[in-house]
Amino acid sequence: MPSTLRLNANRPEDMQRAAEILKSGGLVAFPTETVYGLGANALSAEAVRRIFEAKQRPSWDPLIVHLHDAAEIGRVSQLEDSAFAARVKVLGHRFWPGPLTVLLPRSNSIPDEVTAGRATVGVRVPGNAVARELLRLTRLPLAAPSANRFGHVSPTCAEHVLNDLDGRIDAVLDGGPTAVGIESTVVDPAQTPMVIYRSGAVTAEMLRTATGVKVHVFTGNTNNDAGPPESLPSPGVGIRHYAPDARVILSEPSEAALRRAVAEQVGGGTRVGVLLPGDWSLECTDEPVLVEPWGRWSSPESLARELFAALRRVESTAATVIVCPLPEPGGVSDAVRDRLLKAARPR
Ligand code: TXA
Ligand code: MG
Repeated sequence: MPSTLRLNANRPEDMQRAAEILKSGGLVAFPTETVYGLGANALSAEAVRRIFEAKQRPSWDPLIVHLHDAAEIGRVSQLEDSAFAARVKVLGHRFWPGPLTVLLPRSNSIPDEVTAGRATVGVRVPGNAVARELLRLTRLPLAAPSANRFGHVSPTCAEHVLNDLDGRIDAVLDGGPTAVGIESTVVDPAQTPMVIYRSGAVTAEMLRTATGVKVHVFTGNTNNDAGPPESLPSPGVGIRHYAPDARVILSEPSEAALRRAVAEQVGGGTRVGVLLPGDWSLECTDEPVLVEPWGRWSSPESLARELFAALRRVESTAATVIVCPLPEPGGVSDAVRDRLLKAARPR
């Protein structure tokens, strides 16, 4: 494939071009409010197969389908009129457009490739204006995983996408950095309690308040002995994801603890990178460390927004160890913790 076309979301003719490429079966990376997605026509098995090829993604990992509007659910899912459908309606009404993916019974229009042969399809209506305009122009449901090489850190700007996929996809639509910075919450509303398979900006508490239904956060995928991914209820949210090449060490959530953790790592030729919140200081250590700014500790949203970019920056340095404070649980910090704990897991 020739080098990847770089399109600018501010130019209407570039938006049209992106839509045309998608309608003719090509791959376009585009911004959503969470991370950049690698889009293809979700109704075309051939187009969807290209996503797996470009990302080098195993075929057992199902894709999320993006819709312009909740009213289009019938194009991808068979929702019978039931208490379950009523629950889904509440979720869509409250959280869409937005960073929530809902697992629904699939319809036959969706190729097996999208769902990895499962009976459910993950659906979301993204809140980013560029994503919405692209969905409107194509009039297609778009299958889109995060636009990174499989297992790598998700991309939050067009540059990240090109770093992973230049020459492997038709185009990237540059719409600037993403607002949330962490992938959508994935929830199965068919179970009671509802089950969150991946934490995101829509929290368990928000889901419970909206529906009055209890919510359980699934942690089974984190067990290395959990068995083959195909057998897991949500295969892709598990073990080796979000892993930068350097080893990640997490410290307790205080400046003093971070300093101690850094001091323990330096020396002996180890090149230490530190993710340092802008409102924290490391003060002096005798040995040189690579300090990467990472949001502000007083703003969990900024930590979520900047996490993946900070990980990619430190990864592009010579650091062999990354030291990072682990935020306290609660709100969007649960999702930040989830990604960091996965990134820190031994391989
Ligand atoms: O924020 C996001 O969700 C981004 C943007 C582009 O929308 N997309 C994204 O997709 O993160 P991806 O493919 O990187 O992660 C989606 C994960 C899959 O790895 C899979 O585990 C889970 O969602 N998933 C998708 N469909 C599923 C299904 N039918 N059953 C169980 N899990 C599913
Ligand atoms: Mg992904």
